[in-house]
Formats: sequence, C-alpha cells, structure tokens
Amino acid sequence: MGVVHLVFIFMLVIEISLGQIIIPKKYDGFPLYNSKNKDEGSIMVEAFFDPLCPDSRDSWPPLKQALQYYSPHLSFIFHPFPLPYHSNAYIASLALHIANNLNSSTTFPLLELFYKFQEKFYNDPTFNMSRAMVTDDIANLAISLIGKSYSQAFKAGFQDPQTNEAQKISFKYGCSRGVASTPTFLINGFTLPGAGAAIPFEQWKSIIDPLLKND
Ligand SMILES: *[C@@H]1O[C@H](CO)[C@@H](O)[C@H](O)[C@H]1NC(C)=O
Ligand SMILES: *[C@@H]1O[C@H](CO)[C@@H](O)[C@H](O)[C@H]1NC(C)=O
Repeated sequence: MGVVHLVFIFMLVIEISLGQIIIPKKYDGFPLYNSKNKDEGSIMVEAFFDPLCPDSRDSWPPLKQALQYYSPHLSFIFHPFPLPYHSNAYIASLALHIANNLNSSTTFPLLELFYKFQEKFYNDPTFNMSRAMVTDDIANLAISLIGKSYSQAFKAGFQDPQTNEAQKISFKYGCSRGVASTPTFLINGFTLPGAGAAIPFEQWKSIIDPLLKND
C-alpha cells in the first residue's frame, strides 16, 4: 500500500470519528445578558476561564469593567475550561453547571466566589483530601451562595450524568477552538493573542474601540 493510500485511509478514519461528535442542543457556555445588550450589532466576547486558575481570576475584574463600560455593545459568554493540571477545577466547573441549572442568576456570583476562595482548592492544600471531601467543600461553598433550600439538589447535581455531559461539551468546545490555556478570549469568534494572561482594562479599550468606529 502506497503512502497516498495510507493518507487516504487516515483521512477517512478522521472523517468517521468527526461524524460521531455530538452536537449540543444549544450554544455552549453561560451568557451574561443585561436587558439591553441583545442587539444584533453587538460584539461577541467569549472567555474560557478555569474557575481555579489565578490568571483567569485576575482577568475577570478588568473584563467585567469593560463589559459595563461598553454596555450595551458587548455580549458575553463564559465557557468553563478546567485545566487538567488543576485537579479540582473539573469539580468546580461541574458546580458552575449545577448552579446555572438551579438558578442561572447565581452562575457569575459563584464564579466570583471561586475566585475569592480558589487557593483553598489548589492542588497542594487538597493533596490529602479525597475527591468526595473536595466535592463536599465546593458544594458547601456554592450552597452558601445559592441558598440552603438547594442543598440536596445541589449535591445531587454532581451525580447527575447531565452535569457531566454539559461540562464535557464545554471542554470539547474549548478544544475545538484550540484552547490550551486560560484565560483565552474570542472576539466575534477570533482568538485574541496572549492567552493565559489577564488583559488590563486599557488594553480592552484598545481592542474594542476600533470595532465600534463607523468607517
Ligand atoms: C436566584 O438567585 C438570585 C440571585 O442570588 C436571587 O435573587 C433569586 O431570588 C434566586 N431565585 C430563586 C428562585 O431561588
Ligand atoms: C498529607 O499527609 C502526609 C502524611 O500524613 C503529611 O506528611 C503531609 O504533610 C500532608 N500534606 C498536607 C498538605 O496536608
């Protein structure tokens, strides 16, 4: 068999495996709408954040400031992208999906709560803890925000295959866009260079201002 044949078979295999990708029922991620920013002309900003990543944490306040500054011209979607070398980030990402499912108004406040206490869940301080213990701590932190009445539903969410499926989709979506570090930002679908570092507010201005100019 010649090289050409091998390449052809290889391509065929890729094609078959791509054919098995499950297309999700809706666009991935957690949108942050205010009542005004749903206009068609708005600029779409997407962020891939790891809830336990310090660079993602540091990048959120200046981005939030930009979203407020440019309202209603920006639409925003946050995709949870837990990095595999942050052992508990996957659990925290599941918690974000659970919160979003129970009361979507709590998703961003929970992200901010993770950013406030994330050091507690880093690899070293949790080294001797079981996955069940970490999950319980993360659930209790989330329940302190979302309300005790959701306690049972929240904890059950970690066992729900739908939660896992939702996070799988978020992860695969990030992979499909070439995300390899957090934070990664897309503007109108295009990746900003310099992934893995926070973007200061002034830099957001230099990115967004030219897009809002009428030529
Ligand atoms: C959802 O969360 C928001 C923000 O914390 C809160 O104001 C609202 O009462 C919650 N709704 C329900 C049904 O729990
Ligand atoms: C984990 O347990 C080992 C053995 O008991 C102990 O030496 C180590 O200091 C513990 N590490 C942490 C981060 O608690």
